[in-house]
Amino acid sequence: MSTLSILCISGPNLQLLGAREPSIYGTTTLDEIHTALAAAAQVLSATVTCRQSNHEGDIVTWIGEALGKHDGILINPGALTHTSIAIYDAIKAVAIPTIEVHLSNPDARESFRRRSRVAAACMGRVAGFGDESYRLALEGLVRALWRKTHTP
Ligand code: DQA
Repeated sequence: MSTLSILCISGPNLQLLGAREPSIYGTTTLDEIHTALAAAAQVLSATVTCRQSNHEGDIVTWIGEALGKHDGILINPGALTHTSIAIYDAIKAVAIPTIEVHLSNPDARESFRRRSRVAAACMGRVAGFGDESYRLALEGLVRALWRKTHTP
């Protein structure tokens, strides 16, 4: 059984998880989320590489570099969700199955959060489950990738 390689990218301000607006985002830190993801990945026979940046260009570069290296991408673009055509284009360009992840449910918040610029490039979206959103998204993505490679 070969191992699936997943890239997990978190965008602006997510390095502050744990301290950032805990009533919305909870008290789990990004490091704790990454540790939980690595454990969940192991159970799923996958590996996960986790990165965070506050800079759109870093994220676009990492998506481009994922070509030929990673089988799937989890991305929480933070506020860039609502603005970044560059991230949308990068996901379309590499055509790697990608899941949009959010701790909160952006649709239930301010109206400016209701538009996602990246959603149309993604296979799916997991939002509103707090820190669990990342793990749920990983499970959904890995299952979908296995289905794709094992369906005759
Ligand atoms: C977020 C939702 C975004 O609207 C916000 O800008 C974030 C976090 C989430 O995970 O709930 O930074 O992506």
